[in-house]
Order: sequence, then C-alpha cells, then structure tokens
Amino acid sequence: MFITFEGPEGCGKSTHAKKLKTFLEGKGFQVLLTQEPGGTQVGKHIRGLLLDPQNVLDEKTEIYLFAADRTEHVSKVIKPALASGKIVVSDRYTDSTLAYQIGGRNLPEDLVEYIVNASSKDLKPDLTILLDVSPEIGIKRATQASAPDRFEKEKLEFHENVRKKYLEIAEKNHSRVKTINTDKKGIEEIQSEIRQIVEKKFRKQ
Ligand code: TMP
Repeated sequence: MFITFEGPEGCGKSTHAKKLKTFLEGKGFQVLLTQEPGGTQVGKHIRGLLLDPQNVLDEKTEIYLFAADRTEHVSKVIKPALASGKIVVSDRYTDSTLAYQIGGRNLPEDLVEYIVNASSKDLKPDLTILLDVSPEIGIKRATQASAPDRFEKEKLEFHENVRKKYLEIAEKNHSRVKTINTDKKGIEEIQSEIRQIVEKKFRKQ
C-alpha cells in the first residue's frame, strides 16, 4: 500500500507520518517512511536548492526540480519498496505539485498535470491523508522552531491559494483523499483519526 501525507505549511504531516509508521510497524508491517522533496541522495541536493530562501527561481525551473526529485524517488525508492511488499508512507507527493505549482504559482494546469504524470510514472497513491490547516495557524507553527524557508516566506495569499487547491483536489478525489482539519485538534486526536482511516482502507483492500 502506498500512503501519502499532504497539506499546507505547518499542518503537522511529518509528525503524523512518523507516528503512523510506528503504529503500522507495531502491527507487524514493514514500512518505508520517505519524503518529497529529498527522498533520495540526489533529491537531498535538489531539496536544498528548492528550500534555500536565497535562491530566486523561475517557476518553471522550480517545477522541473520537483519533477527531477520525483523521478529519482519513484524509480529508486518508492517502486522498489512497494515491490518488496513494504507499505510506503510519503511525506508529500504529486498532490503537492498540483496544490503549490497550480494553486500557489499559477502555472497552467495542463503543463503541471503533464509533468506530474510523467515524473510519477503514473504511480498513484492508494490513500492520501490531507491535513488541512488555515494559513495563519500553519505559518505560525511552521516558523516557530526554525527560520522560514523559500515557501514559508511566501505571502499569505499564496498559502491561501495552495490550501484552496488542496481542498479542490480532495473534493474531486474523495475516495482516495481523506481530509482532517487540524486547526483546533490535538496531536493524539488527529493521529487517532488517521489510524481509523488507514484501518478502514486495509479492511476494504
Ligand atoms: P516540507 O518538506 O517542509 O513540506 O517542504 C517542502 C516544500 O516544498 C513545501 O513548501 C511544499 C513544496 N513543494 C512544492 O511546492 N511542490 C512539490 O511538488 C513538493 C513535493 C513540495
């Protein structure tokens, strides 16, 4: 099974992806936890380029870097792990490109969709957990512990558009994408909802 975590800045997906891994391992599954960008050795360099607030990138350069990261990630990490019977949990995947590069950057939908399909080699997640958060709360959470990266530094409007696009994706793909709003919920409550969603998915498979 291929599970992805998605959401705007400061939604808590990295924390919850780690907790889900521990939970699934406790049930006896082998789990690979990975992330985008940066899930491969080359991807770590690409992540540095993309997040460094000193770098001013053309929007197309930006999406090509995400596509390069994903091409490496799918062929060298995700597909081999799925083939060996592991559950793969990825902190961000294709919905991030749709939400950020269409919603946030306003790139043409057909271009972004083409790049997403080509770089993911048509590998779709079985389940996506979208952790929704309002931008004011998310940005505050994300920048509490560390200096803002190139995306966290964007204007509020950018983050509002990313969120809007995520919610649109969830509506169009309701059997795959399950949304949890995190504005007023504690970590344990959110994690318990995630586990219920995942267990329900297992029962259906
Ligand atoms: P994160 O790993 O801390 O979430 O940071 C990754 C950043 O990259 C985040 O701001 C979202 C952004 N991003 C995109 O804009 N497009 C993509 O395709 C991916 C995977 C991430």
